[in-house]
Amino acid sequence: MAIYEVYSHPALLRYKTSICTKATLFLIIVLCLTYISPLLVAYRSQGFWTKLSTYEEQPSITFQYQVLLIAATSTSGDYVAWSTFQNFNNLQGSNLRIPSISAREEDRNQDGKFDQLNLRLSLPLRQSESVYSVQLILTFSYKLFRMSTFIMQSMAYIQHSSSVPGSQLFVSGDLKLQQRQPLKHRGLDTTYNVSVINGNSPFASAYDLTNIIGSYQERNVSTVLSNPSPVWVLGRAAGAPFEINAVIRYPVEIITYPLLCLSINTISCLLRSHADLF
Ligand SMILES: *[C@@H]1O[C@H](CO)[C@@H](O)[C@H](O)[C@H]1NC(C)=O
Ligand SMILES: *[C@@H]1O[C@H](CO)[C@@H](O)[C@H](O)[C@H]1NC(C)=O
Repeated sequence: MAIYEVYSHPALLRYKTSICTKATLFLIIVLCLTYISPLLVAYRSQGFWTKLSTYEEQPSITFQYQVLLIAATSTSGDYVAWSTFQNFNNLQGSNLRIPSISAREEDRNQDGKFDQLNLRLSLPLRQSESVYSVQLILTFSYKLFRMSTFIMQSMAYIQHSSSVPGSQLFVSGDLKLQQRQPLKHRGLDTTYNVSVINGNSPFASAYDLTNIIGSYQERNVSTVLSNPSPVWVLGRAAGAPFEINAVIRYPVEIITYPLLCLSINTISCLLRSHADLF
């Protein structure tokens, strides 16, 4: 026998209960999760569409006690030079001049990280010599720990020249991080844990400033002495040494790192599933 529909109506069933039950509690929890957790996530991650984020950290910097100094002693190409690399010194012959150096690193706020380097270099000169220009490389060990562990060997380059001979060069600047690419957000990064100057090389090309600075500047992450404000002091007493005074501060850095795309996707999936619930 054939069956046909005579009449239909939708049925509304209401399930009622008193306020204080587990069902009410469950409903409240679900409501909270739906509206509050996405807000928290959005607040914590500063928006879902940023690909880069930043954080602040004071790097752990220590002076490596590596120095390379070249000073022009006339306007016609005479110079004296010295470095902490024996191979470089061997190449200098009669141009080698050994300065006296004192270096002191200070931890001013007692947080276990050095805040500045005070370097004093005193270069003895002959009666007939005067200093017209100075080129100085200092190398540092540079470490960051907060997100990824980032370890590199970096440098500060100090350079000044004048048409009048000086008695002293004073510089005071910040050793700033230069980032051409974001740092990793976790893990260990030792890409640039390589010597700025290859002190094992017996060849002059390894100590050529053009080569050193050239390959250093190729790095995506490096340090630079920013705002050195060099002061060239005139009037050297006969027979007095030429002095270099450097104050290099290690400031807190704002470091760029990528927000993982994976985590952004996970969060948006999470939000969508919450939205679907209602
Ligand atoms: C970084 O380089 C220094 C000197 O070459 C070495 O002693 C140190 O172990 C290296 N650090 C890492 C984590 O590779
Ligand atoms: C340096 O950055 C460029 C562009 O961001 C990239 O193509 C290159 O692979 C990076 N080099 C290293 C050694 O990471």
